Amino acid sequence: MAYRHVASLLFLSSVLAMLAPGLCGAAVPALFILGDSTADVGTNSFLTNSKVRADFLANGIDFPNSRPTGRFSNGFNSADQIAKLMGFRRSPQPFLYLVTIKAGLRRPKFRGVNFASGGAGILDITGKELVVVPLSEQINQFATVRSNLTAAMGATKTAIFLSKSVFSISIGSNDIFGYFATNSTVPKEQFIITSSLYNLGARKFGIISVPPVGCCPSQRIFNSTGGCLEIQNDFARSFHSQLSTLMSRISSEIPAIKYSIGNTYEMTMNVIENAPLFGLKDVETACCGSGTQTCTPEASFCSNRDEYLFWDLYHPTQAASLLAAQTLYIGEKKFVSPINFSELAEC
Ligand SMILES: *[C@@H]1O[C@H](CO)[C@@H](O)[C@H](O)[C@H]1NC(C)=O
Ligand SMILES: *[C@@H]1O[C@H](CO)[C@@H](O)[C@H](O)[C@H]1NC(C)=O
Ligand SMILES: *[C@@H]1O[C@H](CO)[C@@H](O)[C@H](O)[C@H]1NC(C)=O
Ligand SMILES: *[C@@H]1O[C@H](CO)[C@@H](O)[C@H](O)[C@H]1NC(C)=O
Repeated sequence: MAYRHVASLLFLSSVLAMLAPGLCGAAVPALFILGDSTADVGTNSFLTNSKVRADFLANGIDFPNSRPTGRFSNGFNSADQIAKLMGFRRSPQPFLYLVTIKAGLRRPKFRGVNFASGGAGILDITGKELVVVPLSEQINQFATVRSNLTAAMGATKTAIFLSKSVFSISIGSNDIFGYFATNSTVPKEQFIITSSLYNLGARKFGIISVPPVGCCPSQRIFNSTGGCLEIQNDFARSFHSQLSTLMSRISSEIPAIKYSIGNTYEMTMNVIENAPLFGLKDVETACCGSGTQTCTPEASFCSNRDEYLFWDLYHPTQAASLLAAQTLYIGEKKFVSPINFSELAEC
């Protein structure tokens, strides 16, 4: 049993090695990333009053040059890992950074934008008091980028360029943490998001569903046995099933849409339940903050970071987000469907 898992992991690495240079890597001209702190690469560092920040060490301790970049991780986050698998060096830069530099939104160097903001949710009310960029505003920012591209290369080329680009959306956990999510509001909002992006030219959607949020160290505190908080995991599961139903409906109405949904719930539970097979020793407590404390500039942090699932109370380590990205990229249907991200990226 264990042997089979190891064998399939080895197989996975060799397939990835073959794919790494990207058979079709160049086929994805740009990557647009929307979402929350799981994908934020520094957006919130540009929001003076934001209370959701990671621009201090030990965040970034394993990033090139050991520097904090605003990523809620010890190193690369899942946006970077997905970008790398698609042939990019790392995630594109934050929109709020690109607007500050003259050539930021101009071709030929242009390879996408990251709009993700820590603390943001699908609903505008989520994260409001923390000062974040809500998803609706992230879409407005994309509309600006699109108008800049149109001004630079014309409407037809822009339409082709955007239709080949991948739009990765990773959001929903904060709506659940904030208890704003209910079974009726969130899927409806997700419908509006997808159609707004479609109307702006997006065709390829890589949607990363909500992880088992109840298993975060921050939520386990509320379970007297230290187990996962089941009510929040129920929400995460129902979010995924409703999202799948919704996307399948949208794509049957609009055949030009190509999409992939990562079942982050299933993939994370698989890692938690089979931790040693993935090289992990701690899947319950946070590396930064001694297990159950907030990761602050003063907090102590573990040295064996690659053996932890959680970097801080809410976010995966670089090692864990690499595992997730690899599964999204070439995983089986149980974890990513109806197609995986490598098929989404194909020309
Ligand atoms: C991009 O478009 C916005 C809105 O149309 C405009 O204000 C801005 O100057 C443009 N930026 C660049 C770099 O062209
Ligand atoms: C707490 O965790 C246990 C597993 O350790 C689980 O059976 C139980 O349902 C959880 N309780 C809550 C309130 O989520
Ligand atoms: C939401 O819907 C799912 C089924 O789709 C159900 O299992 C769950 O209990 C519902 N949650 C709430 C809070 O209504
Ligand atoms: C996932 O991606 C790989 C590599 O492109 C592909 O060969 C495989 O058929 C896909 N798996 C599934 C279950 O769709």
